[in-house]
Formats: sequence, C-alpha cells, structure tokens
Amino acid sequence: MTNYKKLFEPTKLEALNLNTRTAMAPMTRCFADDETGVVNDETADYYRRRAKDGIGLIITEGVVISDRAKGNPGVPGIYSREQIDAWKQVTSAVHEEGGTIIAQIWHVGRLSHPELIKGQQPQAPSAIAAEGQVPRFRKPYEVPEEMTKQDIKEVVGQYAQAAKNAIEAGFDGVEIHGAHGYLIDQFNSAFSNKRTDEYGGDLAQRLTFMKEVIAAVIDAIGAERVVIRFSPHKVDAPDYRWDDAEEAVKTFVEAFNEVGVKIIHPSMLNFYEDVKDGQNLYQIVRKYWDGPIIGVGSLTPESAERALEEGWIDVAAIGRPLISNPDYLQRINANESLVQYEPKTHLPQLI
Ligand SMILES: Cc1cc2nc3c(=O)[nH]c(=O)nc-3n(C[C@H](O)[C@H](O)[C@H](O)COP(=O)(O)O)c2cc1C
Repeated sequence: MTNYKKLFEPTKLEALNLNTRTAMAPMTRCFADDETGVVNDETADYYRRRAKDGIGLIITEGVVISDRAKGNPGVPGIYSREQIDAWKQVTSAVHEEGGTIIAQIWHVGRLSHPELIKGQQPQAPSAIAAEGQVPRFRKPYEVPEEMTKQDIKEVVGQYAQAAKNAIEAGFDGVEIHGAHGYLIDQFNSAFSNKRTDEYGGDLAQRLTFMKEVIAAVIDAIGAERVVIRFSPHKVDAPDYRWDDAEEAVKTFVEAFNEVGVKIIHPSMLNFYEDVKDGQNLYQIVRKYWDGPIIGVGSLTPESAERALEEGWIDVAAIGRPLISNPDYLQRINANESLVQYEPKTHLPQLI
C-alpha cells in the first residue's frame, strides 16, 4: 500500500490523460545532433523509461521553434522535416508504455550567441544584453537585436507552426515555455522590455507578446492540449522576484483568461518558498485560478503529496530526481531510497 495516495491517482488535464498526478519537468539535456537538432533512439529510450515508470505527463526538454531560437549546443528542434520525423520514435515509445508526452516549445531570445545560431544576432524585445555568460558555451551574452513588429509576427507564427509540428510528430500537446528569462519572459519583465509600443509598458501590457503566442498556439492545436509555463525567477537572475506576487498572479491570470488557456505551470525553484505573507506561490495562484495547475520546485514525494492534498496543485512536476532515478515512482512506492542528483555525473549521460 503506497504512502502517496494522491501522487499515484490517475487524472485528466483537459485532453491529457495522466496515469498518476506526476509530471516530468522539462529538462534540457543537449543530446540532439548539434548541427541538425535531430533526436535519436537514445532520446526515445530515455523518455520511454520514465513513461514505463508511470510518470503521468512527460514534458520534454525545451525544443526550439527555429534555428534562431537556440541557446545551447545540442538542443533539439521541431521546425524541420527531419526533426519532426525523428520525434515520432520518441512519442511512439512513450505511447507504447501508456504514457502521455507534450513538447516544450522554446525560444531563448537574447540568452544566446551568434555562434549558436548560424551567425545571426539573438533577438529580444529590447537591445539590452543579459549579464553573464551563455551556459555550457562560456561566451558573454551580446547585445540582441530589438524585434520589429514584423519579427514579432514571424516568431508568433513559428510558435504556432511548432505546435502543429508537435501534433504531427505524435505529441499529445505542447507546453509554451514562458518562464525563466527566455524570449516570452523577456517581454514579460520590465528589466528586459523597455518598449514604448503596445508590447511594452506596465505588466499587463508587457504580457501582450505572451498572449499573442498563446492565442496562436491555441488556434493551431486547441486549448485542451496547451500548457503555459511562467515564473518569477530567470536563469540569468535566479533571485529575481515580483515586487508583489499576488498582484503579478492576478495580472497573469487575467491574461490567461483573456486568451482562453486552460492548463498553467507556474515554476519555482523551491515550491514552498514564502512569496507573500507566509504563502507559497501556488496558494496564491489557487485563489485566482480554478483550472489545472502543475507545480514544481525541489519537491520530495512527501512535499508533493502534501501540495496535492492541500489542493494547491493538480499535478506535481519532478525535475532533477527524475534524471537520477528513471524508476522514481517504483522506488518511492517500495520505500526505497532515491539516488541523489549530481550535475557532474548525471548531465553527460542519458539515463
Ligand atoms: C538539467 C536541467 C535542465 C533544465 N531545462 C529546462 C528546460 O529546458 N525548460 C524549462 O522550462 N526548465 C528547465 N529546467 C528547470 C526544471 O524544469 C525544473 O523546474 C527545476 O529543475 C526544478 O525542479 P526540481 O527541483 O524538481 O529539479 C531544467 C532544470 C535542470 C536541472
């Protein structure tokens, strides 16, 4: 008899059927062919193992929507024929195990370097360079090119096309990566968005680009298979927080309702962090959002079970422990200990 009744409960998020209330958090692994962005049978095996373990929803590593959207070597894409066809072996493997898998569609915006994107300049809402260096590449960020309205239109179209491609490749849906300081979040955040047109201004106004992306993706594949991920922290500013988390949540929720997105995935590094008056972010989100919420951030089986029991979230996403434990659910069900995630040992191998 499991100690984790809620975690092991089947559930349905709109069109997505989950065997358990668990998700594999999206995690970049850099194992695609660097030149072509094509995945291989090792990738299929990697995701198959988590589906076989019973993980309810697999959210892939970030998958780029164009060759200019890439920010690390070895990241897969979903915009060429070869890439789409190669993903079919991954989605089939997961479906053979009875799992559900969605592709995380990604554009890194300014968090890139010309050498990663075939000599092009990274694009962003404003011509402001991020601080620091490109991870796993070790070159400083450069000043990006400010996107014109035509560029914005083109990139919104690329998100929609990537979503259609994902469905063609056999995915059950997509997650739009609107978190962690990448392109959508660069529009969302005041320090990277200084625009004076309709894409800039106060928070509600800065969310315009995100709303256009969500609307285009929903139009392409239907709202019942679309998840939006968003976050206060950024990879280039991990300590960044909204001034007032409750006000920010209200503004985001208004934007989500306006475009009709149904499944949301707020991202925290630490789920239980106090973001306002003793409340965690998910408690606040739940006050304003009745629909499905995926939660994440250093969750243990115990703390995930509690978050589900409290009703703050509907599905618990697990990141690093699922890299080091492909048999995560089997282990916790049998009360066996988990293998500690070690970046140095676990990053270079697809286990
Ligand atoms: C190696 C690694 C790669 C990651 N890549 C992505 C990514 O591609 N997209 C994304 O939204 N988050 C990414 N994340 C963040 C995770 O999805 C997750 O939110 C984070 O690891 C916190 O969950 P955890 O404490 O259970 O690991 C990554 C995290 C790690 C450790």
